[in-house]
Amino acid sequence: MEFRNLRKTGKEIPVVGLGTWEIGGGMMSNSSRDEEAVEALRLGLELGMTLVDTAEMYGAGHSEEIVSRALDGRREKVFVASKVSPSHFAYEDVLRSAKRSLERLKIKQMDLYQLHWPNPRVPIEETMRAMEKLVRDGVTRYIGVSNFSVTQVEEAQAALSREQIVSNQVEYSLVDRSIEPDVLPYCQREGLTVIAYSPLGKGRIPNGRGGPFKVLEEIAAKYGKSRSQVALNWLLNHESLVVIPKAIDKAHVRENAGVVGWRLSPEDSKKLATAFAPE
Ligand SMILES: NC(=O)c1ccc[n+]([C@@H]2O[C@H](COP(=O)([O-])OP(=O)(O)OC[C@H]3O[C@@H](n4cnc5c(N)ncnc54)[C@H](OP(=O)(O)O)[C@@H]3O)[C@@H](O)[C@H]2O)c1
Repeated sequence: MEFRNLRKTGKEIPVVGLGTWEIGGGMMSNSSRDEEAVEALRLGLELGMTLVDTAEMYGAGHSEEIVSRALDGRREKVFVASKVSPSHFAYEDVLRSAKRSLERLKIKQMDLYQLHWPNPRVPIEETMRAMEKLVRDGVTRYIGVSNFSVTQVEEAQAALSREQIVSNQVEYSLVDRSIEPDVLPYCQREGLTVIAYSPLGKGRIPNGRGGPFKVLEEIAAKYGKSRSQVALNWLLNHESLVVIPKAIDKAHVRENAGVVGWRLSPEDSKKLATAFAPE
């Protein structure tokens, strides 16, 4: 595995982690694939993808319970990231949500606790005061945000008195380039880690048909890699960025672990960028 520094903290995190949306259900809990999910996550951890991203919202908490089973005996080797839902951004609610996440994850401390989406109805100062208390109390090691614009990151950072925001988790893939004009360059300039979610376009990239996908297919054939591996490798051209594909199928997990140890040439990276350029 390859590692990158989490925003100049000195903490190294793997460039490929494990997403868990729909592991344990969507908005509701669903236990029907628990065993498969635990096995997929354990395999991912064994293959070095030792960053797990979950949220209190996923499977209404059940995703965190599945992560806890996958962590069994391996906690120290894994970087565990969870998220607080926007409806819980009031001071006491943040503290309560974090405590419940720890209980479901069966760990003493999260590595990263992220604000899942901005919530303009709760003053960011109030939410960040609670996040700083969580760091002080050892509930989380680092604070992150998700789906925040540049202005929202700046406001959230200004609301913190001692800590820094280490990461912004945002959608980024060949089929969603919306962070390229502003959020990505800002994070790179500031050294904030970008955690790229839906890096496979929620499954569109491995299965898409038509023009740009033909280019992807050709480049994949040239390197002897899969479309997904090429698409993830392309994202990793950006220095302060890591990816968190989600996979419950073990073959997919293995494939995603094979995204490191090789690099697309600058020419092929450019070819892909052009083929998938937003209209
Ligand atoms: N912060 C946020 O607001 C936010 C929003 C969305 C997602 N996320 C995070 O980002 C993670 C990833 O995003 P995502 O789940 O939306 O989408 P994704 O990772 O882009 O795509 C997941 C889909 O791709 C398939 N897949 C995975 N690896 C594959 C491979 N090597 N070959 C072919 N197909 C493959 C998976 O199939 P199988 O599962 O069947 O293997 C699944 O259907 C989430 O799980 C979550 O942790 C965060």
